[in-house]
Formats: sequence, C-alpha cells, structure tokens
Amino acid sequence: MKPEIASTNWNELYETGATPWDKGLPTPVLAEVQQRHPDLLKGDVVVPGCGTGSDARWLAAQGCQVTGVDLAPLAIERAQKLDEAQLAQYVQASLFELPASLIEQFDLAWEHTCLCALDPSLRTPYVKGIRDALKPGGTVVGVFFIDPEMDPGETGPPFGITPEELTGLWEEAGFTVQESWVPETGYPGRVGRERVLIAVKGEAKSAVKS
Ligand SMILES: C[S@@+](CC[C@H](N)C(=O)[O-])C[C@H]1O[C@@H](n2cnc3c(N)ncnc32)[C@H](O)[C@@H]1O
Repeated sequence: MKPEIASTNWNELYETGATPWDKGLPTPVLAEVQQRHPDLLKGDVVVPGCGTGSDARWLAAQGCQVTGVDLAPLAIERAQKLDEAQLAQYVQASLFELPASLIEQFDLAWEHTCLCALDPSLRTPYVKGIRDALKPGGTVVGVFFIDPEMDPGETGPPFGITPEELTGLWEEAGFTVQESWVPETGYPGRVGRERVLIAVKGEAKSAVKS
C-alpha cells in the first residue's frame, strides 16, 4: 500500500527559499566517516532525499557512482545545475515508490536529513524504500538528527529520534547494526546532536517485506 506522503510541500519550500537545511556544502560528517572507514564509501551509492546534491557530489568526487533521489522536482533541477561536471545522476522519485530501475541497484545508501524530514508514521516505509534500493548485503550509512532541539509544543520537521529508536528501526527491518557513534564534526550548531549509524541489509522481517 502506498503510504500517505506527509503534508510538507517540499517543492514549494525550494521555490520560496525556505530551506534552512541546505548549507550548500556536504556535511562534514562524510569526511569523518571516510577517515574512520576508508573502504566504506564506494561502489554504487544512492542518496535518498538528496536535496540540491551537496553530499551526492562529494561522494561522486571520491569515486562513488552516485544517484541522488528526491521527491521535489526543483531540488533535482538545482542538483543537476550545480553538478557542472555531471559527477552524479539525479532522479526525481519518491523513496516510497521507487522506479524499477532503482530497485536492488546499490551497494550503499547515504542518509542525511531525509529520515528526520519525514513524519514518524513514515519511518517504516522509509526503511523499506532503502531496503528495496540496496542490493542484498548492501549497507546503509547515515548521519541521523537525534535532537533537533524543538521548543516545547513545537513539532517537526525535523523530527528527532532516540538512539534506541534508531537502532530498533533498522533491526526491525532485518538490518544488522554494525556501529553507531556521535560524530565529532557537523554543520555549525549540530555537533553533538547527530548520530552516525552503519547497518547491513539482511533478511526482511514481516513489517518491511517487499
Ligand atoms: C530536510 S531536506 C534534506 C535535503 C538534503 N539531504 C540536504 O541535507 O540538503 C529533506 C529532503 O527530502 C526530500 N523528500 C521528502 N520526502 C521524500 C520522499 N518520499 N522521497 C524522496 N525524497 C523525499 C525533500 O524533497 C527534501 O529535499
């Protein structure tokens, strides 16, 4: 069943410039991950919710074959324009309805501020989308926004998630969590509020079967 897409109109946010997440630079956490695991970021990589593609371009510049996927047509258009050297490819699609051409194509998924952008009710479909995109035994690596520091009564996006919920989300989907840590780097103001998680795709449990 197709999940309800949360009411956020992402394309409109790009149209009006209401995109505080878009720093125009890759997250510094990518370099930290690469330094810690020099052999991890390689092969065919999908970046779900890639936005204007800063992370996708960084990964492609390291030698990965990168496909950025985003729901918002304007994000994809800008990602393509910014990628003058055409290092990566960009596809306008929903993670919840991936085209057949993106199914089981990727060794690695790089997650950064896509999960936290989604209503918590969409977390299981989000994990299923990543599962579907990965080859058997593929790896998801992500920097997850644990603590968006909301004021009392304020709701997301971004939606925070506890470290325990984050691990449980992937394990419930049949991933084996290999490592998780609080990165020492990050965009200004985010250090200490994010968590990196590395997990490998295994057999799906009932909730996320294809
Ligand atoms: C908070 S933004 C982060 C963008 C990018 N990762 C960055 O850090 O600049 C969330 C992105 O997820 C995209 N998005 C939301 N729902 C999606 C879905 N179902 N499938 C693919 N992309 C989605 C939005 O269009 C938006 O570009």
